[in-house]
Amino acid sequence: MSYDLIVIGSGPGGYVCAIRAAQLGMKVAVVEKDKTFGGTCLNVGCIPSKALLHASERYEETGQLFDKMGIKVGKPKLDLAAMMKFKDEGVDGNVKGVAYLLKKNKIDTVQGTGRIAAPGKVEVKSAGGKSETLEAKAIVIATGSDVARLPGIDIDEKRIVSSTGALVLDKVPERMLVVGAGVIGLELGSVWRRLGADVIVVEFLDRILPGIDNEVCRQFQRILERQGIKFKLSSKVTAVDANGKTLKASVEPAAGGAAETIEADVVLVSIGRVPYTEGLGLEGVGVRTDNKGRVMVDEHFATNVPGVYAIGDVIAGPMLAHKAEDEGVAVAEIIAGQAGHVNYDVIPNVVYTFPEIASVGKSEEELKAAGVAFNVGKFPFTANGRAKINHQTDGFVKILADAKTDRVLGVHIVGADAGNMIAEAAVAMEFGAASEDIARTCHAHPTLTEAVKEAALAVAKRSINM
Ligand code: FAD
Ligand code: NAI
Repeated sequence: MSYDLIVIGSGPGGYVCAIRAAQLGMKVAVVEKDKTFGGTCLNVGCIPSKALLHASERYEETGQLFDKMGIKVGKPKLDLAAMMKFKDEGVDGNVKGVAYLLKKNKIDTVQGTGRIAAPGKVEVKSAGGKSETLEAKAIVIATGSDVARLPGIDIDEKRIVSSTGALVLDKVPERMLVVGAGVIGLELGSVWRRLGADVIVVEFLDRILPGIDNEVCRQFQRILERQGIKFKLSSKVTAVDANGKTLKASVEPAAGGAAETIEADVVLVSIGRVPYTEGLGLEGVGVRTDNKGRVMVDEHFATNVPGVYAIGDVIAGPMLAHKAEDEGVAVAEIIAGQAGHVNYDVIPNVVYTFPEIASVGKSEEELKAAGVAFNVGKFPFTANGRAKINHQTDGFVKILADAKTDRVLGVHIVGADAGNMIAEAAVAMEFGAASEDIARTCHAHPTLTEAVKEAALAVAKRSINM
């Protein structure tokens, strides 16, 4: 078969790219090695983790807040199997949705592992061992990423788990040790703590969530500690002894020194993800990768081999579904001769814990390092009417605006529903808004978004409700 475009991988990068290319009139095929479409995000990432975060948050809320609101339901009882079914149904609905969209857009789907045999040629091997070769004018590599492993620590996905195993535990562990205070560690650590586990997080650095604004992280760590998560910063796990009934993890200071043993029933290894290019045949065709194994591309997502492009987790940049999606759209438009583009300065980042953390643009530390003069406007949720009536007053909104032009350079939110609220900031920044633009925009009352307006007012020191 001959196509205009073959996309290898059906995650948020790949399937979105295929649909945009089909909209632009191309004949498109998607090659996927797994049984279902949607990649990491839909099968073992964003979607199942958010389902468990949602369900476990409701579980905790029922136990803690309902009584205060005058709703007497007694002590909630956990039916973990039913919660897992709730999650699986969400995944099922989403992966079927992608299959429907691919069909609707008349995109051919080929089940099997794709290997670039030559520029314009993709050999697909099915699980049964059958192989066929497809031809195309362009190939997009959208093969995503895989779990990063710790040397000497074997992930069995039962007791020593990656995020994939942590999404399917059949029993709440009494003690869970999380290696890495990044997004996965804090989201899935929160899930299992809410369901009853005693959670300790061991982090190599002296702070949680590297890359996120320091002030946000400091307050967030205090909130998580109040919720019961323990942290051991500047520390590393060097070994896990899995011989006994309980796991024994050796934990050392990051700089080296005496080790201590921490016992746990489950160890979650969440120290990052690595690009996935296994079996793609990159070396054979000469596609260049960098020292982290990421496929190297230019600003048009083109690799060094003509007609071969790459997007999503397999290239540099934040490993986020919406970043992969936007690159999918951009590369399809570029291949069609249009001016596809991704604005990397305005990619929102959300951690779906409670409260949520959401940010877009630069942090204070980044602006200081770049020597940019800026003003700060901050507004706490303790002064927001809606947060007060909901009894959800943890957190704040912080807006960083250029000292000379007032242009918004970064927005950082810790608070309930921060992930939805950050969209306003992203739109404002895409349009080059000043903080005054946000401050003069009418925000509905009573909503949490009024805290965004108040933070914008606070940039010019004229907040009303504080
Ligand atoms: P992937 O989604 O990894 O898809 C790649 C696809 O390619 C896979 O289906 C794979 O089977 C297929 N493939 C690989 N090699 C071949 C081959 N040779 N032939 C055929 N098929 C192949 N991001 C967010 O933005 N928000 C979140 O809330 C979020 N939560 C996450 C939670 C967890 C637990 C994890 C692990 C990740 C989360 N992410 C989240 C990150 C997000 O999942 C990724 O950024 C996103 O999936 C990347 O999309 P992609 O299309 O580049 O790759
Ligand atoms: P991460 O990069 O977010 O965090 C990994 C953490 O582990 C870092 O804090 C790092 O300093 C620490 N670390 C590394 N080696 C260590 C060691 N040996 N000992 C102790 N700590 C160590 O990676 P994570 O959490 O695994 O997530 C992977 C990716 O998935 C993220 O980069 C993110 O892009 C994506 N993701 C996004 C989500 C979202 O958008 N809400 C949710 C989950 C994942």
